[in-house]
Amino acid sequence: MRVFLIGFMGSGKTYWGKQLAAQLTIPFFDLDEEIAAKENKPVTRIFAESGEEAFRVKEKATLERLIDEQPSMVLACGGGTPCFFNNIGRMKKYGVVVWLNTPVEMLLQRLMKEKESRPLIRNIADEEMRSFIIRKLNERRMYYEQADVIIDNADNLPVNELIQIILHA
Ligand code: S3P
Repeated sequence: MRVFLIGFMGSGKTYWGKQLAAQLTIPFFDLDEEIAAKENKPVTRIFAESGEEAFRVKEKATLERLIDEQPSMVLACGGGTPCFFNNIGRMKKYGVVVWLNTPVEMLLQRLMKEKESRPLIRNIADEEMRSFIIRKLNERRMYYEQADVIIDNADNLPVNELIQIILHA
């Protein structure tokens, strides 16, 4: 099976993805890391040197390649992955899409510590961060809501329960 984890930056896609993959004993991939490995530079540099549009094209191509190559995997997507092209449709067609709907205050707390490594927020002033997250999340909600499974606040859920929910989706 293929499990696609989607959700805002800082929602815990990589953390939960690794846990899920270990429990399901299938490979784990992180879409940003795959893009960075292929391009031989971190995502921040791809954004800085080529811009967001070019990044989105590479993101789509990498998603398609992984789907082609991996009949079974857990993939932690980037926060914007489901919001561009028909990525969300493709993911739903080839696997189970899980939205980690993490509370805004939790996102804020985590992202404040990691601004530098995230091109979309590195230039946002600290005092603007909460309103940025709320606005961006609202823009993206219509894509995230298309997930097959919605997990509100995964941190309150034991990994085995998360697996049961996904397996029964
Ligand atoms: C992005 C999220 C990032 C990365 C890129 C753009 C976004 O991934 O793909 O910086 O548009 O929300 P994470 O959600 O893993 O931080």
